[in-house]
Amino acid sequence: MTRPLRLGVNIDHVATLRNARGSAYPDPLRAALLAEAAGADGITAHLREDRRHIRDADMAALKAGLGIPLNFEMAPTEEMGRIALATAPHACCLVPEKRQEVTTEGGLDVVADQARLTDFVAMLSETGIRVSMFIGHDARQIEASAAIGAAVVELHTGHYCDLHYAGKFAERDAELARLAEGARLAARLGLEVHAGHGLTFETVAPIAALPEIRELNIGHFLISEAVFIGLEAAIGEMRRRMELARG
Ligand code: PXP
Repeated sequence: MTRPLRLGVNIDHVATLRNARGSAYPDPLRAALLAEAAGADGITAHLREDRRHIRDADMAALKAGLGIPLNFEMAPTEEMGRIALATAPHACCLVPEKRQEVTTEGGLDVVADQARLTDFVAMLSETGIRVSMFIGHDARQIEASAAIGAAVVELHTGHYCDLHYAGKFAERDAELARLAEGARLAARLGLEVHAGHGLTFETVAPIAALPEIRELNIGHFLISEAVFIGLEAAIGEMRRRMELARG
């Protein structure tokens, strides 16, 4: 039997909506608790350097209020390291961050930053936090993530999703094959494999079907779909499609 697949719900864009008007609503914790009630296995939130969506107080409220694991997404900077240690989340997902980008565009370059990341991962891991590296499917990045002591890699599915919506189906399938190969390599190296970025009802099934993948992190689409059908229904339908694909 294929091993179960967890769904982590990213609630960043509830905060985006709140911050667009400088209002007190919608509250990301309320969305996270609704996601928890709808069957999410974890909540992901990204505290960006520019605080464009999630803020420090949101992270503290999530940690205090949630009954399911909190995945603290962050750039591997000294400031974020300090906040992560104070927050003590279940997991930290390390991502590259560029101020000008609209969203996390690529994976982390673990190979280029190996020495510094080794210390950073150790600092978090020693306190019991599970550390995940958000990377592309490049074998060198996967091997470097294992070498520096990360417990988890999250494979970036953004390019696969972009190719799907561009109608470039042959290229999409080639990208999917590379993601599948990356997932196999990571699992062989003893890493837990996650995936995420850009996933939707249309694109989730082939990723959910990869047997090595244990968790998907999905945000923007679920929050968008919630406008039309509600968050609970959006999460329920995503789960249904994941389970169907898993077989
Ligand atoms: N995983 C990581 C590491 C991310 O940076 C993001 C985007 O914040 C996601 C998953 C979720 O991506 P999306 O919001 O496109 O579903």
